[in-house]
Amino acid sequence: MAKRLENKVCIVTGTGGSIGRAAARRFAQEGAIVVGCDTNVSAGQQTVDLVTADGGRMISLHPADLSIQADCLKLIELAIREYGRIDVLFNNAAMAYFNWIEDISVEEWHQNTRTEVDLVFFLTQAAWPHLKKSHGTIVNTASLTGHRVFKTLGGLAHATAKMGIVGMTKQLAMEGREHGIRANSVSPGVIETKQTEEQLKDKEWADYMLGKSILGRFGKPDEVANVALFLASEESSFVTGVDIIVDGGMAIW
Ligand SMILES: NC(=O)c1ccc[n+]([C@@H]2O[C@H](COP(=O)([O-])OP(=O)(O)OC[C@H]3O[C@@H](n4cnc5c(N)ncnc54)[C@H](O)[C@@H]3O)[C@@H](O)[C@H]2O)c1
Repeated sequence: MAKRLENKVCIVTGTGGSIGRAAARRFAQEGAIVVGCDTNVSAGQQTVDLVTADGGRMISLHPADLSIQADCLKLIELAIREYGRIDVLFNNAAMAYFNWIEDISVEEWHQNTRTEVDLVFFLTQAAWPHLKKSHGTIVNTASLTGHRVFKTLGGLAHATAKMGIVGMTKQLAMEGREHGIRANSVSPGVIETKQTEEQLKDKEWADYMLGKSILGRFGKPDEVANVALFLASEESSFVTGVDIIVDGGMAIW
């Protein structure tokens, strides 16, 4: 059976992290040539080693801080220098800053925008000419936060940023239509990752969130990566401008 991303050059960001690593491994298993990146050098390299050990193909730029436009340009240059094309852009990397309206500083607000929104804009703009050539696919990462809000989560900046990503994705789908570019997003609920590890140790917090999961558990990084894989592949050829919530049912009650 043909692999779902055979020989597709796929940029996956934040490959040192949990969902990014899972996506790098799943995409490579499906025949992709993965171009990863992370601010974290050792975690970024570990993912390259894991993918290579699995028999997959991957290179990575680390450190790369995508909230700096010059680093986004470097990542695109790397992909083009090595492989001459970009077929898939999975904007997974982000760093959230949680706080409440009464406590958040202006600096924290802007920091969250830089690390959750600006990086998606910078990298997508740099990749755009290459996606036009390949009639490529964009998968962005939004969040359940914003679709739903939680009394235990100071998600003011995070909800604003991630709903911004949902809006940006629709706009990209519209602008991309003339070039055969599809753009969609994935919205994870609570996933057991490095980013939620500390928070999930707070039993009261974890129990409250668990009570909201229809499936009675939190998600695994692979369960988000599999949806990103579907959106990245030709299996979703008639899907554009949508956001798929991957949350074990938290959004429906
Ligand atoms: N874990 C969840 O419950 C959850 C829920 C909703 C949305 N998300 C989203 O999923 C995505 C992945 O999150 P995760 O849970 O795997 O987190 P993670 O912390 O395990 O991984 C994120 C990775 O991105 C990297 N990164 C962050 N900012 C970067 C930057 N500016 N430049 C380059 N690399 C950068 C980090 O170093 C890290 O390795 C994020 O967009 C996050 O907002 C996660």
